[in-house]
Amino acid sequence: MKSDKLPRHIAIIMDGNGRWAKRRLMPRNYGHKRGVDTIDRISRAVFDRGVEILTLFAFSTENLNRPKEEVSGIFELFGKYIVKNLPDMLARGIRFKVIGDVSICDEELRKLIADAEKKTEALAEHRLNICFNYGGRADIVRAANKLSAEGVTATEETFASALGTGGLPDPDVVIRTGGEHRISNFLLYQMAYSEIYFTGTLWPDFGEKELDGIIADFMKTHRRFGRIEQ
Ligand code: FPP
Repeated sequence: MKSDKLPRHIAIIMDGNGRWAKRRLMPRNYGHKRGVDTIDRISRAVFDRGVEILTLFAFSTENLNRPKEEVSGIFELFGKYIVKNLPDMLARGIRFKVIGDVSICDEELRKLIADAEKKTEALAEHRLNICFNYGGRADIVRAANKLSAEGVTATEETFASALGTGGLPDPDVVIRTGGEHRISNFLLYQMAYSEIYFTGTLWPDFGEKELDGIIADFMKTHRRFGRIEQ
């Protein structure tokens, strides 16, 4: 089976902000700030090309162990990102969702998240998921407990729908920037058949040209899902 279609769902592990800043003798949070500019650029490009869903790994549960100023800087950037981008999401039909445990965010940030999710709830053109204080294993365990509490038998379908990405197709493409070759506890269940692209480009430098190359490569990739070529 040959995939000649655009990916419906792209997921990205945005790595390399810290190193990008360090190379410029700047504080790590400056790298995260430039990383947010890349989110603006790349999300626009992804949706402009007709991809329906973009899922970004913005903050893992393990990232909480970073120095306090870095963590609070990322939380602050997240709040600013929502305030700045909500009008654009509304204008462009982007439904916004945060996946992960947001109970660690302060009340103001939780309100911004809830408000953006509510205001964009009925929009259907695109989906932007931000994984924040997210871990793939924790999501799996939470889904298992949810099904068991509801007395629902776990099947591949019921299980998928109980995950944070419930109701969405699995990512067709997963991209990791920053040169590491690992999955780092991201969408563990959902990426069973994803095409995975690792690039050495640091996230602040990731651009449309590279994105287009990945999309083009995906479109000519033979996806067999364990079957033989037909
Ligand atoms: C990885 O770079 C990046 C992160 C851990 C955070 C990503 C966060 C943002 C882009 C800003 C937050 C914005 C929103 C919208 C939530 P790294 O720090 O691990 O880089 P390194 O591997 O070079 O140290």
